[in-house]
Amino acid sequence: MPASAVVTLLSKPVHEIPSGSLAELRRAAGSCRACPLWKPATQTVFGAGPEKAHIVLIGEQPGDQEDRQGLPFVGPAGRLLDQALEAARLDRAALYVTNTMKHFKFEQRGKVRLHKRANAAEQAACRMWLAGELARLQPDLIVALGAMAAQTVFGATFSVTRERGRWRRLGEAAQGMATWHPSAILRAPEENRKQQYAELVTDLRGLAARAGVR
Ligand code: URA
Repeated sequence: MPASAVVTLLSKPVHEIPSGSLAELRRAAGSCRACPLWKPATQTVFGAGPEKAHIVLIGEQPGDQEDRQGLPFVGPAGRLLDQALEAARLDRAALYVTNTMKHFKFEQRGKVRLHKRANAAEQAACRMWLAGELARLQPDLIVALGAMAAQTVFGATFSVTRERGRWRRLGEAAQGMATWHPSAILRAPEENRKQQYAELVTDLRGLAARAGVR
């Protein structure tokens, strides 16, 4: 890690964490130009949830609906996430839900905007916002949804397939775990979908148990 990098709960280097409150961070992210993704996107999609949340869920990047509404996980993946949270008796309103990337990356095909994965440079440029959110919130429990978030938190060699559901210490006071991304479940072949969804619910029940939810 370069000497200038600051210490964060993330495995990857962040060279600067913007100062200010969470609200100030959100405002600053609204005019972020650190990578080219802001231009075609409708708006920045920052995290949402109470500033006092003890639990942070981190997804990958906003999709079409999130880009239009300016909120994370409000499209099809968000609906599946809501269903899984309910099955695990977790109240989404008590959680802080965010993404690794704050802008929708897509390819326009006629009227359809097809999701494209952010590249390494775009991920690096965006990391300061997630690092800033975690620095302000100081959560006890962090859940990474899918490979992009998991590798940002736990390191480039992390495999969700091999290591999902296992809790690890993060920094001095937090713990983290990774599980399936709801979009991966929606895209999974029919024969795997039920099982992956059940595993997501199991992992979220593990989160609820750690958080002391009855
Ligand atoms: N997928 C994500 O990773 N995040 C969202 O907000 C929506 C879909």
